Amino acid sequence: LSRGPAERDLAGRHVVISAGGTREPLDPVRYLGNRSSGKQGYALARTAVARGARVTLVAANTGLSDPAGADVLTVGTAEQLREAVLKAAADADAVVMAAAVADFRPAHYAAGKIKKKDGEEPAPLELVRNPDILAELSAHRGRPGQLVVGFAAETDDVLVNGRAKLARKGCDLLVVNEVGDGKAFGTEENEAVVLGADGSETPVPYGPKEDLADRIWDLVGERLPESDA
Ligand code: CTP
Ligand code: CA
Repeated sequence: LSRGPAERDLAGRHVVISAGGTREPLDPVRYLGNRSSGKQGYALARTAVARGARVTLVAANTGLSDPAGADVLTVGTAEQLREAVLKAAADADAVVMAAAVADFRPAHYAAGKIKKKDGEEPAPLELVRNPDILAELSAHRGRPGQLVVGFAAETDDVLVNGRAKLARKGCDLLVVNEVGDGKAFGTEENEAVVLGADGSETPVPYGPKEDLADRIWDLVGERLPESDA
């Protein structure tokens, strides 16, 4: 499949995409983070712009350059990502949570750099839960008919875990990919299955992240209510 000029089937739509991975600070120089590159979220932003959507990209620690035509909001932590996404989602037709959100953050932030002391073992790291943004978005839609899409990276029992996660989160679509052995994280290509709350199951073969992004927008487009624009 070659990518010609895109059909502008998302014209008049506002889509919100989160990308990258949150970082939860321990002290001014350290954080808990993850390996998400942000590339899949950026591919979603580029393809949505090409299809005519107004795009808000909430980017967490990606280091990637802003996609042309998207409104980019940069955030660091899960709390900041939550605030930016919920605000942007208020008038959105679709929200896609491609970001890897840290499940936990340090319970305490040290205002000064944590120092080791001679002959002392390190103190255990106390963590607290971060809010589940996808579940919150799914439970409180910004507008009627708003589509909410999640991502899940699984290492085992990919489809079974994916179905359970889709139900638990309450989103409309869940893009599930298998990770491990160099798959998905930081690579240019991706392979996934898109599960629908309606029972649908759409396999997307290994290929560029842009192709997966376009398939996701196809599935979103089919499910959006008629535009009032
Ligand atoms: N997500 C979120 N808020 C969180 C954690 C995850 O919005 N605090 C979103 C991610 O952006 C992703 C989806 O939920 O779209 C699934 O993330 P995942 O980490 O697979 O789900 P978890 O419920 O955290 O499950 P697990 O225990 O397997 O990490
Ligand atoms: Ca998680």
